[in-house]
Amino acid sequence: MKTYIIEIDEENIEEKKLEKPAAILSAGGTVAFPTETVYGLGANALEPKAVKKIFEAKGRPSDNPLIVHVAKMQGVEKLVKEIPPKALMAMEKFWPGPLTIVLEKTDLVPKEITGGLNTVAIRMPSHPIALKLIEKAQVPVAAPSANISGKPSPTKADHVVQDLSGRVDAIIQGNSCDVGVESTVLDMTGDIPIILRPGGITKEMLEAVLGKVEVDAALEGAEGAVPKSPGMKYTHYAPKAEVYIVKGKEEDTIEEIKRLQKQYKAQGKKVGILCFDETYSKYDEGTLKTIGSRENLKVVAANLFKILREFDDTEVEIILAEAIEEIDLGQAIMNRLVKAAGYRVIHV
Ligand code: TXA
Ligand code: MG
Repeated sequence: MKTYIIEIDEENIEEKKLEKPAAILSAGGTVAFPTETVYGLGANALEPKAVKKIFEAKGRPSDNPLIVHVAKMQGVEKLVKEIPPKALMAMEKFWPGPLTIVLEKTDLVPKEITGGLNTVAIRMPSHPIALKLIEKAQVPVAAPSANISGKPSPTKADHVVQDLSGRVDAIIQGNSCDVGVESTVLDMTGDIPIILRPGGITKEMLEAVLGKVEVDAALEGAEGAVPKSPGMKYTHYAPKAEVYIVKGKEEDTIEEIKRLQKQYKAQGKKVGILCFDETYSKYDEGTLKTIGSRENLKVVAANLFKILREFDDTEVEIILAEAIEEIDLGQAIMNRLVKAAGYRVIHV
């Protein structure tokens, strides 16, 4: 399939350039586009045939439901049975932006979107290209991250072209994504909102507006807990190399990473290290990459997937990664890193 590639400057959007991709969406095709979190792969959410194309292009399991993206509040009302007062508060405060809200769906939302669930996940992105595209297409847009299933999510146009060129109808190339990790998924079907996936809007930010907010037990690692967000059970964000996270005090972490590095090297394996600016100078051998300063979690989040993908361009077979404290954005960052590591966390 030939993929139509369009470059658009988000600072100065030429609306004419959005006409073709919007028409492709309305006609049931697939279009990858930038959002403030990661690039998304969109299709008409109300058209099961169009939605199927997303799953095929990504190689995504069909029971993993998709987020429906809207450009206006009027877009939400027909998709959900009701908008409870707290959900409305969350929408007013955090939309447009990196918050996805799960509510009970209406019959208009096809089961292909929800993986058979009776709820639907909805988000209004804040990226100007995403908003204009959805508005012009005049349909709600289902959009998972625009990567091949299992790989790190795309935060740069190049990542999308690498993964999806020849597999989708169009790709809109914009700048790098600001947030860099996917939206927070918040279940608002009950009295107390539950975070199903940590993201750009933190628990702390949500609680300041909504009062008590819980975190899905499965996310917290409770034994036997069944993930509510079906996406949580699949391999995610994984670079080609095997990732191991080392968690503990700084000196202990560095020592353990160096010990493991030696051990794997002795086995003939090429080892990479993923660290932070603060410890960059403490390691001296191998492929070393920093995700940013521990003092600036926004930058760390924005860099994470890009750096994981960069390791794919090296010979590295094992990546030893430092952990970060799970507060504020650190929750979303560790959530993605732990999944990239296939839950291999070494406590020291
Ligand atoms: O930032 C984002 O959310 C990006 C951009 C493109 O908007 N999209 C994204 O989509 O990350 P995706 O498909 O990669 O992740 C959707 C997540 C999955 O974890 C899925 O299980 C969950 O949302 N989800 C979708 N519908 C749900 C539902 N009805 N109930 C619970 N979880 C749901
Ligand atoms: Mg994804």
